[in-house]
Amino acid sequence: MGDGLEKVLVTEEQIKARNAELAAEIDADYAGKDLLLVGVLKGAVMVMADLARELHHPCEMDWMAVSSYGAGTTSSGVVRILKDLDTDIKDRNVLIVEDVIDSGLTLSWLVGNLKSRGPASVEICTMVRKPLAFDVDLDVKYIGFDLPNEFIVGYGLDYAEKYRNLPFIGTLAPHMYQG
Ligand code: PRP
Ligand code: MN
Ligand code: MG
Repeated sequence: MGDGLEKVLVTEEQIKARNAELAAEIDADYAGKDLLLVGVLKGAVMVMADLARELHHPCEMDWMAVSSYGAGTTSSGVVRILKDLDTDIKDRNVLIVEDVIDSGLTLSWLVGNLKSRGPASVEICTMVRKPLAFDVDLDVKYIGFDLPNEFIVGYGLDYAEKYRNLPFIGTLAPHMYQG
């Protein structure tokens, strides 16, 4: 493949179908309940937009920006809030929407942070989970795809801020990130 990509792991069609399935589960689970989707900028923009449009349940959407990676390829373990929620989540049902859980460090920290604000519930929906996430104590209710530990990009996932706009998820060719 051109553009520094190696192969497609999840096609646009597979992502669309999975979003519809996840939305149906979420519709059923939140029937009769209030729902606030919290997207984690910037990676979650694509899944938030697509998943929200598959939902029939009324929901609100808010956004947080946190930083754990910088421009590199490995987690620093340091999480900072770059943009906080506009919404008071006390007594709200919060569903965090993410593009990927890799080390799980970002979400472990974020779940703890949000739970300290007194919400009725906090759950997680991620389009991709990678195997390292099994090492952290994180309850992920909605998972699009469990993928192997390769360097993946697309559908919100970036390498140095690029490739987010690919409509599919693919692997980056090793020469892109090896010296
Ligand atoms: C990426 C990704 C998740 C997080 C997962 O975000 O979108 O938010 O890292 O990694 P972890 O499970 O190892 O913590 P990043 O910090 O790169 O910001 P971005 O969403 O703006 O790309
Ligand atoms: Mn992110
Ligand atoms: Mg990133």
